[in-house]
Amino acid sequence: SVVHVLLTGGVGSRLWPLSRKQSPKQYLNLFGGKSLFEMTIQRNQNIADKVVIVGNRDNTHLSHKAMDNCGLAYINIEEATPRNTAAAIAFAAFAVSPSDILIVTPSDHMISGDESYELAMQKGIEKAKEGFIVTFGIQPTRPETGYGYIEFDQDLVKSFREKPNLDTAEDFLERGDFLWNSGMFCFQASVFLDELKKYEPKVYDAAKVVWDAAKEGVLDESLSLQIPSISVDYAVMERSKKIRVVPTSFNWSDLGSFEALYDYFVSNGYPKDDNGNLVIGTELFTGFVGLKNTIFVCTKDAFLIVQKEKSQDVKKIYNMLEKHQ
Ligand code: GDD
Ligand code: MG
Repeated sequence: SVVHVLLTGGVGSRLWPLSRKQSPKQYLNLFGGKSLFEMTIQRNQNIADKVVIVGNRDNTHLSHKAMDNCGLAYINIEEATPRNTAAAIAFAAFAVSPSDILIVTPSDHMISGDESYELAMQKGIEKAKEGFIVTFGIQPTRPETGYGYIEFDQDLVKSFREKPNLDTAEDFLERGDFLWNSGMFCFQASVFLDELKKYEPKVYDAAKVVWDAAKEGVLDESLSLQIPSISVDYAVMERSKKIRVVPTSFNWSDLGSFEALYDYFVSNGYPKDDNGNLVIGTELFTGFVGLKNTIFVCTKDAFLIVQKEKSQDVKKIYNMLEKHQ
């Protein structure tokens, strides 16, 4: 069968103070009505026949609530501590049959164009059946350093480079034969596990130990801490020879940082000023004097003022607060 694997372990620290540990961005009703989590489930509903959710135990109740709203059956894998995406995907692969096709998606992306999405996924499923690990590529629009870059020729991946520095990202954009990695993947469970074992045997072995000791999908904390924390992009995508890409044409936004949120808002007609400043979260008149490309975020108990280009660094504040709480 085709299984939709939903990764929902992140806290969205780059969107602090909108996103909090106790209410990560994917569960928020940021865009009226449905959360990004629910929209992601529904987008894949006609494509996959099973759902596996992998997320932190602190947020299990939020996942349950969101799934109740969607009315679908699912397998829940409850992490005691986040060990990053290589391990999270491995758990999902252990939970299904080796020949099952997995469609792995984050839970926090904004996508519009359901038809072209389904078409891209169908192409991905076909290639996954041939034994490839498929990524879905997005036409890049700025030298974003928070993404992975795919050097491509049709469906061939010449190289995959996760989170390059700004100079490199600018160079990739100029060269023109690069796509962003959307962070969505499609492959056979056994193909992924074989590649993980080949390139990150420690992650594979430690994740297997955790999985074998799991009770009804609930993972043990101290065993989990033995798993090296590495993302699937570094662990497998940068190294495997079996990667293929499906270039896509749907509208995609990662909404991972305030810069991404800015681009999303602006392209959807949200008011901004001529200097690229933006206010989020208050109707109060806010004046910017002498500031450019500055985003002001207002919540009940915290403000954030960030220079747009430094959006990636918001997580430093989150990490600092987390340490001192
Ligand atoms: N269950 C679980 N456990 N989920 C996790 C964990 C974990 O330990 N860590 C992260 N996730 C989830 C996040 O909630 C998110 O849905 C997804 O996995 C990807 O993690 P991010 O932390 O958002 O990754 P990223 O945005 O830095 O980079 C990835 O996505 C980009 C596009 O949005 C990479 O795949 C990049 O190459 C890609 O361009
Ligand atoms: Mg992300």
